[in-house]
Amino acid sequence: MVSIGVVGCGYWGPKHIRNFHELEDATLATVCDLDGERLRRVQTQYPYVKTVADFEDFLKDSMDAVVIATPVDTHYQLARQALLHDKHVLIEKPVSTSSSEVLELIELAEKRNLVMMVGHTYEYHPAVDFLRQLVQDGELGEVYNIDAARLNLGQYRPDANVLWDLAPHDICIVLALLREEPIEVSARGTHHVNSKLCDMAYIELLFPSGTMCNVHVSWLHPRKIRELTIVGSKKMAVYDDMSESEKIHIYDKGLALAASNNNGFAAWPPNYRYGDVIIPFISNAEPLKLECSHFIQCIANGTAPRSDGWSGLRVTNILEAANNSLLNGGGRIKLSRTATIAKASTADLS
Ligand SMILES: NC(=O)c1ccc[n+]([C@@H]2O[C@H](COP(=O)([O-])OP(=O)(O)OC[C@H]3O[C@@H](n4cnc5c(N)ncnc54)[C@H](O)[C@@H]3O)[C@@H](O)[C@H]2O)c1
Repeated sequence: MVSIGVVGCGYWGPKHIRNFHELEDATLATVCDLDGERLRRVQTQYPYVKTVADFEDFLKDSMDAVVIATPVDTHYQLARQALLHDKHVLIEKPVSTSSSEVLELIELAEKRNLVMMVGHTYEYHPAVDFLRQLVQDGELGEVYNIDAARLNLGQYRPDANVLWDLAPHDICIVLALLREEPIEVSARGTHHVNSKLCDMAYIELLFPSGTMCNVHVSWLHPRKIRELTIVGSKKMAVYDDMSESEKIHIYDKGLALAASNNNGFAAWPPNYRYGDVIIPFISNAEPLKLECSHFIQCIANGTAPRSDGWSGLRVTNILEAANNSLLNGGGRIKLSRTATIAKASTADLS
């Protein structure tokens, strides 16, 4: 039995609290938040749980692991303190907006033999698992490009721009699908509410294989959209996370190109190919429950999580470059696999 403490019970923390309350091999021990009203709400719902406002007092409790579901600018300090108190940590995405802070946490966790997991919830999503298998099995052929859109009216955050808030999800999905890291990134964005934080952004990634990827994130959009399109040389797939029962459509569509002529041009006009549209069954298991359960298993078995610190570092590294590009008018930034990131095996990109 692994005992868990949760710090932060705003929007997302209560979902961790519910899941750890429901898991049989975990005990929810203590919940911490600066906001007394939020703690009272937790206490009403889970009367057996201890609540504290002060993080130092929270860490004095004897739980095995801490879930950090506070704003991003607090993650590093809270996680560092928790690791120094020998607690395993599950840190919400993004771990930090600074890759050097993420690296420091990874090294601290490794040194103290503790599990450091990142809340990349989509890495546990059955639909993402299905797409990953589809790409790896070559069902779509060569992946030409991926377009992702994560749009809604709000939720505006005061602590991080839309890129840091929403794009971690799409970046980790794309890394999981392609199993490679981008070599170039650029981003453009604008702000309409808070002059310090952009609320809509377009990120472009280029991968060594030639795959192009666009990620559109916005807090200023009339419809809630969570969509990802993969265009492959054989087939195409659309993942609509808003759909209850038809999350993935696989289109047997494309171009049947004839061999190129001597000038390097394919025969013109190209032959368009229209085939079946398949809607596979996707389990509706809650991704966050799978993630929480995986955290418990990793602690119990001493194994590295699927979304470990290195996974968090890859995402922060890409978004750090994207954010620099955004602040500098959208210029292209080359990404090199730093020695530290290279240390994390590419096999981890699974
Ligand atoms: N994995 C996902 O799908 C997902 C979804 C939503 C949010 N998140 C992440 O979860 C984190 C929290 O987001 P949120 O929307 O719940 O934020 P929120 O602002 O709604 O809640 C944060 C809570 O943390 C508390 N807090 C802040 N500093 C604290 C401190 N030092 N000690 C104790 N409590 C403190 C605040 O009082 C607040 O109740 C963010 O990192 C966000 O990116 C992840």
